[in-house]
Amino acid sequence: MNNKITIAVDGFSSTGKSTVAKQLAKELGYVYVDTGAMYRAVALFAMRNSLITDSSFNKEGLIAQLPEINLKFVFDDKLGFAAIFLNGENVEAEIRTMEVSQYVSKVAAISEVREKLVSLQKMMGREKGVVMDGRDIGTVVFPNAELKIFMTASAEKRAKRRYLELQGNNQKVSYEEVLKNVEERDHLDTTRKDSPLVKAEDALEVDNSEMGIDEQFEKIYRLAQAAIDSVNSSK
Ligand code: DC
Repeated sequence: MNNKITIAVDGFSSTGKSTVAKQLAKELGYVYVDTGAMYRAVALFAMRNSLITDSSFNKEGLIAQLPEINLKFVFDDKLGFAAIFLNGENVEAEIRTMEVSQYVSKVAAISEVREKLVSLQKMMGREKGVVMDGRDIGTVVFPNAELKIFMTASAEKRAKRRYLELQGNNQKVSYEEVLKNVEERDHLDTTRKDSPLVKAEDALEVDNSEMGIDEQFEKIYRLAQAAIDSVNSSK
C-alpha cells in the first residue's frame, strides 16, 4: 500500500520554492500547484482592467469582479508542468513580469481574493498526492499537511537569482530594482493582516542561501520519503 500525502512548501519570494516543488512532484508522481501563479493572475486581471495602477487601487472594483475571474491549470508538455489560464488564456509568461511582481502583494492582501483562491486550492488538493507552494499552505490551506517545508534565504541571494532569471527572459531591470522588490514583497507578505507569511509551528525550515539546486532537492526529497514512509507504516 502506498498512501499519498500532502506536501506544503512555503517561504519568502524567490527562495526557489517552485523549482524544488516541481522537482519533487515529478519524482513522486504528484500534482504540482503554484499558488503564487494564481495571485499573479488575479493581479494581471486587475492591471488589465485598470483596477490597479502606480497611483491607485480600486479594491472594491476588484472584489466586485472576482466572480468573473476564472483560473485553471492545464498541463503543458513542453514546460513539464501546468500552465495557468486566466479566463481561457494562457498567461504563464505574462504573470512573471516585474510589473505584475510590483502589484501582486497588494492584491494578495485582500481577504476576498484569498478566500476565493484558498477554496480553489483546497479543492485541488482534496485527493492528496499534491505538492503546493505558496505562503500560507501549511498554515491556512492545508494545516494538516503531512510534510511542511519552510524555505528561506538571504534577500541578496534571492534578488540575485531572480535578477539572473529575469535577464534570461530578456527583461530589462537592474539588480537594485529586483532587490527592492524582493524586500518590499517580504515586508508586505509578512505584515498583511490576513494570512501573513509565517512559518507553521510544525514546518521544517530549509535555508538554501548556500545550497545548490541538487543539494536542496536531495535534502527535501529525503524529508518527503520519510514523511511518506511514516504515513504508510502507521496504517
Ligand atoms: O510565489 P510568488 O512570488 O509567485 O507569489 C506572488 C505573490 O503572491 C507574493 O508576493 C505573495 C502572494 N502569495 C500569497 O500571498 N499566498 C500564496 N499562497 C502564494 C503567493
